[in-house]
Amino acid sequence: MNSEPFRVGILTGGGDCPGLNAVIRAVAKSLMLQHDAEIVGIRDGFQGLIEGHVESLEHVDVSGILTRGGTILGASNKANPFAYYRRDNADVSAEAMKTYESLNLDGLVTIGGDGTMSIAHRLSEMGMNIVGVPKTIDNDLVGTDETFGFDTAVSIATEAMDRIHTTAQSHHRIMVVETMGRYAGWIALHAGAASGADVILIPEIDYDIEAVAEVCRTRERSGQRFTIIAIAEGATPIDGGMAVRERIEDSPDPLRLGGIGNVLAHELKDLVSSAVRTTILGHVQRGGTPTAYDRNLSTTFGAIAASMLATEQYGRMVAYQNGSFTSVPLSEVADKTRTVPLDNALLQSAQAVGTSFGRNDLADIRD
Ligand code: F6P
Repeated sequence: MNSEPFRVGILTGGGDCPGLNAVIRAVAKSLMLQHDAEIVGIRDGFQGLIEGHVESLEHVDVSGILTRGGTILGASNKANPFAYYRRDNADVSAEAMKTYESLNLDGLVTIGGDGTMSIAHRLSEMGMNIVGVPKTIDNDLVGTDETFGFDTAVSIATEAMDRIHTTAQSHHRIMVVETMGRYAGWIALHAGAASGADVILIPEIDYDIEAVAEVCRTRERSGQRFTIIAIAEGATPIDGGMAVRERIEDSPDPLRLGGIGNVLAHELKDLVSSAVRTTILGHVQRGGTPTAYDRNLSTTFGAIAASMLATEQYGRMVAYQNGSFTSVPLSEVADKTRTVPLDNALLQSAQAVGTSFGRNDLADIRD
């Protein structure tokens, strides 16, 4: 570090998630307190870096935001400097670099998911000093066992399923609850197991509609006249595809999943006696205040990111592995998805207590 003030930029890329403000606060306060650093907030993810929309963050700006949902900096899940949606998908990475240099930044903290880490990796290869912080409710980032935001999403989905449980019991219904999670089943698995769902359907295990119907019918016959089915938005039937809610052409990842809960309910209706209803939890899983666990994970990730910048450990993402905090190269995270392995302990434990994963031959699939 030279005698000039240490200057660090922060941006929040991709979709928002509870805990972003807690990370911003932790990065900024740690660097201000320990290194007398100047902090620059970059607006709306990489869009602000490309277009030069930035603001100086003072201590007062990052105070009182620990518990607040969303991000004080704004986010964009479309702004990719290597294919920028506002300029016919042109590569404008040189403009992002120009902003970085004109701000005299010593480093940049990119808080985001796999898309953000892939962009961060490419920008760091161009010479930016970047440290990534793993965010996403989906918990699908490679290199870390946990991302912040996941615990909050699981808590929200669990509470929703608990509430659906009581109305399902009253009306003797089959209730299908669809969670987010993209191509990974982490939210459905954790919330489904926590609320004692009878069936959990995740993208990692294609479901057999007959096996799902048989669980419902067995429960109907045995006098347990309701069934709770947790289904991840990326789940697919054995002989079908993923349910795509929308295609957003100018987004780096154009597909938006959603609606498989309705597909399942529609097919199930003809195979069971009880009434079937669907609830799609949607963006409520991403909103509001983070859980205590996510607040503390965010604070720890943020403080570690700050110390990595101060010690010039660039081109890496903060990570949590096997109960310890560490970091991994951005190159190991970029363009990958961490799905639920079939030997996952929670998956196996849920199965051991009788939860169906929509297949009668799960043991064979696992082998
Ligand atoms: O990655 C987070 C997430 O909420 C996914 O679970 C979901 O598939 C997607 O983002 C929704 O994206 P959007 O906010 O663009 O609808």
